[in-house]
Amino acid sequence: MKGDNIILTGFMGCGKTSIGNRLSRFYQRAMTDTDRWIEEKQQMSVSDIFQKFGEQKFRQMETDCLKELLNTCTNGIISVGGGLPVREENRSLLKQLGRVYYLKISPHTVYERLKEDTTRPLLQGENPHGKIEKLIEERKSFYEAGADEIIEADQKSFDEIIAEIDYYERKRKNETACY
Ligand code: S3P
Repeated sequence: MKGDNIILTGFMGCGKTSIGNRLSRFYQRAMTDTDRWIEEKQQMSVSDIFQKFGEQKFRQMETDCLKELLNTCTNGIISVGGGLPVREENRSLLKQLGRVYYLKISPHTVYERLKEDTTRPLLQGENPHGKIEKLIEERKSFYEAGADEIIEADQKSFDEIIAEIDYYERKRKNETACY
């Protein structure tokens, strides 16, 4: 059976964690963030995991995290790391976990939000704007393929995005209600 979680995907800086926390309060449902989950399990920051074990190990930790959530997480809110939907296996696990909302934003917005950030290893070093553009271009088809709904998040407030997600959630409930 398909899980009943609300899942937020999208590029770094699209607001997954902030919106996830607000949705958690709005619906009174528990919130899980895959990055925080991995950090707690490893007792190490994502940056340190990248540095010590490399990106591929981190990607495996993301898959392991989803497999565990499949056994433990129902009726919650799940926010996932920006690179997680790139793996096909992960996209399939996400679909099993619940409904996937892809928060779509432009490279320019990501850059403006994250230009001072030091916690995203993939955006450090020279030409962060170029790195953002390239990664979004590489990933956009994976985000779209893994999504049930695409939310244009660029020009919207958190409240507007939450209202849009709530609209889809209500619509789905009406469609599946038995009278
Ligand atoms: C990554 C996004 C990060 C984190 C890691 C790698 C990515 O999560 O998982 O730094 O590959 O896009 P956020 O999207 O929550 O920043």
